[in-house]
Amino acid sequence: MPTAEVSLDGTLDSRQLRTALGRFPTGVTVVTTTAHGKREGLTANSFSALSLDPPLVLWSLGRKSSSLPGFMAASHFAIQVLAADQSALSHRFAVPSADKFQGLEVSMGLGGCPMLAGTLASFECATERTHDGGDHVLFVGRVLRLSFRDGEPLVFSAGQYCTALPMYSPTADVDRQAVWAGLG
Ligand SMILES: Cc1cc2nc3c(=O)[nH]c(=O)nc-3n(C[C@H](O)[C@H](O)[C@H](O)COP(=O)(O)O)c2cc1C
Repeated sequence: MPTAEVSLDGTLDSRQLRTALGRFPTGVTVVTTTAHGKREGLTANSFSALSLDPPLVLWSLGRKSSSLPGFMAASHFAIQVLAADQSALSHRFAVPSADKFQGLEVSMGLGGCPMLAGTLASFECATERTHDGGDHVLFVGRVLRLSFRDGEPLVFSAGQYCTALPMYSPTADVDRQAVWAGLG
């Protein structure tokens, strides 16, 4: 199997950095907010759990994003985890447009955040703090309300949309139960 080894000291090869980072599969979310009466939203796979107590999550937003001023001004944001059948929604929110919400069924969440229908989970957050993250801004949110349902997640891996299949293995099941028990 071909491998590539790249040293990043000095000259940064951002294409290869992206390729290597893409080997880490993620879920896909749409993050929304409302600021100054305008609805904002973008596709983001930088979402991650941060803390259980207090309940904190994080995600990062590119400094060139047109929605950055809105997210910086807003008091709340909502993370919405997409289901396997929502890749069209992911594409819609990854492409710049004057109103990405046009024609979509949305309800109003905490702080006026637009909430999309049919998602697998949502985390409605108060913006706790922001941090400098190089060419991104890191947003930390305190989860105030959440929802979830059973279903298949949309997965992003190596630049492609994928689905996740559960792996049935007696050893893995025992290990998984032990790990979750340890998390309390
Ligand atoms: C799967 C996927 C994940 C993405 N994750 C992020 C992310 O975490 N942060 C980010 O700033 N942009 C991310 N993007 C790119 C933005 O969705 C895209 O640049 C969007 O148009 C930015 O919003 P804007 O239209 O308001 O500028 C991602 C795109 C895709 C397709």
